[in-house]
Amino acid sequence: MRIAFVGKGGSGKTTLSALTIEYLKKIGLPILAVDADINMHLGGLIGFDDKTKTKLNISDSESIKDIKTYLKGDNDKIKSLVEFRKTTPPNSLSNFVNLSNKDDYILSNYTLEKDNIYLMNVGTYEKGEIGASCYHNNLAILENILSHLIDRDGYVVSDMVAGIDAFAGSLHAQFDRLFLSVEPTRRGVDVYNQYIELAKVAGVENLLFVVGNKIRNNKDKNFLKSFIPENKIIGYLYLSEYLSDADQDYSPLDIDKLEDNNMDLFSNIKKMLDFITPDLKSRLEKLYELHRKYVSQDSIKDRFGDLTYQIDDNFDPSSI
Ligand SMILES: Nc1ncnc2c1ncn2[C@@H]1O[C@H](COP(=O)(O)OP(=O)(O)O)[C@@H](O)[C@H]1O
Ligand SMILES: [Mg+2]
Repeated sequence: MRIAFVGKGGSGKTTLSALTIEYLKKIGLPILAVDADINMHLGGLIGFDDKTKTKLNISDSESIKDIKTYLKGDNDKIKSLVEFRKTTPPNSLSNFVNLSNKDDYILSNYTLEKDNIYLMNVGTYEKGEIGASCYHNNLAILENILSHLIDRDGYVVSDMVAGIDAFAGSLHAQFDRLFLSVEPTRRGVDVYNQYIELAKVAGVENLLFVVGNKIRNNKDKNFLKSFIPENKIIGYLYLSEYLSDADQDYSPLDIDKLEDNNMDLFSNIKKMLDFITPDLKSRLEKLYELHRKYVSQDSIKDRFGDLTYQIDDNFDPSSI
């Protein structure tokens, strides 16, 4: 099961990701906590030490090379690492990241582990990239990891970068649900409208649900409901004194200290996830579709020729 929190900066993505991780942690399944924001804060909120994390970024150029080499494994459809593009699908000869395996190569080398929670940081811009690159280029390696990830017995919770980068590549197709944090403001509603349009275009509108955040009262709820269909709202996080204090104190979040009226949201999220059976086949079909689209661009064709052959029709994802 994979979920991501998206939305505008300051709307509560990191807070919601951290609280969801703390809630799901009690189930006892492994959780891959992905900090995919440029300003990395997730680790601190779920109890990891800030100082140890920088050397583990998956989007550092050395990391990218190593991770791709590992994931490629014996996949003969990838001739060289430069042909391992963000949409390149796995086949039966690839190596996979296995959330249930404590000794997994990627988990051991690119995450910090604590109580069955694996923290993975995508990373910030490298110095040479400033001005020369978009953050969604850094997200490409996360796309590769997710497309090669076995998560049958665990959760992936991803705190995404603010803005619409999640829709720039194939990343949206890698999740079972996208939760959009929306504040009860005009600007919040504008952002909702923008995301729902993008989600429609990307064919993932059915995956997108809204969390109303920083809700003060019924008036705020009704304000959101007047713009957003009720069945699209998974729940509300009320403006919380506990969260404000935790923020000021720089302390990690403890879900047991959260106000009672804020707990419904997390049980709603959990219930929604309980009803999803990840459909590996259709996830892969979606990746194939995005791959065909991506490699049909002239810039890719001119450089590599036809990369559609990377799609291996004989690969059955249920065999892994
Ligand atoms: N429901 C809430 N009640 C009180 N403060 C909140 C709530 N949700 C988020 N915050 C605060 O708002 C600020 C931004 O939240 P954050 O999760 O960092 O947003 P984002 O990751 O989307 O940029 C933080 O100071 C956080 O503590
Ligand atoms: Mg954040």
